[in-house]
Amino acid sequence: MIYLKTSEEIELMRAANTLVSRTLGEVAKWVAPGVTTQRLDTIAREFILDNGGRPACLGYGGFPGTLCIEVNETVVHGFPSTYTLKDGDIVGTDCVVELNGFHGDSCYTFAIGEIDSKVMDLCKVTKESLYKGIAVAQEGKRIGDIANAIQTYCERHGYSVVREMCGHGIGKKMHEDPEVPNYGRRGIGPILRNGMCIAIEPMINMGSKNIVIERDGWQCRTKDRKPSAHYEHTIAIVDGKTEVLTTFDYIKESLGERFI
Ligand code: MF3
Ligand code: CO
Repeated sequence: MIYLKTSEEIELMRAANTLVSRTLGEVAKWVAPGVTTQRLDTIAREFILDNGGRPACLGYGGFPGTLCIEVNETVVHGFPSTYTLKDGDIVGTDCVVELNGFHGDSCYTFAIGEIDSKVMDLCKVTKESLYKGIAVAQEGKRIGDIANAIQTYCERHGYSVVREMCGHGIGKKMHEDPEVPNYGRRGIGPILRNGMCIAIEPMINMGSKNIVIERDGWQCRTKDRKPSAHYEHTIAIVDGKTEVLTTFDYIKESLGERFI
């Protein structure tokens, strides 16, 4: 069941998604070699609470963090830990906030210090694939059009698309219908309509598409232990136009020339 949002609800979605964007902007100020992922998690949690939000991942199905922490081969749902970020790592920070009953969801993969140019390319292509998906996410198009745009772009660059994890509808709940896969055929799936809010989140691997879920039932890594990148925006279809509700501008502001 896809819930179409009213204009009042879209306004609340804007606020929640602005808060999650600002949260990642705050996290970006601290991302550096020598910092533990736990520290990043605490910064995100305190920022959300100070701004009247609720860290929606914390306690969700037992998840232990405000941020999902995705270091190198970790695809999604990594736990914040005592791991210290080091030069050459990449780290995805995936965050969901609830504000006034609505959810905002965004993810950004950061480079720590100097990273391998091949890993840098993976990050750039993954981020660009998110914008390719957004570009076709227009009223009247279908979910499969988004999925196909992302898959085609990433595979053309020699990368593979994780199958088991998808984007999703979002609103009063973190995960609503429809599922938004990052692979598939054009012209299939639900039609995008006014009032729809979806999170688009390509998870792209440098090596094979295969993943392994750890015995904790959460932490997901590539089977071949090659790196994986992940970027996410939440969008809404409003009056026939596509509005990107999250932004990486706060991250850009924090990183300055280190923004990729
Ligand atoms: N952005 C992730 C998602 O869309 C966040 C969920 S993590 C969880 O699935 F811990 F809350 F499940
Ligand atoms: Co999401």
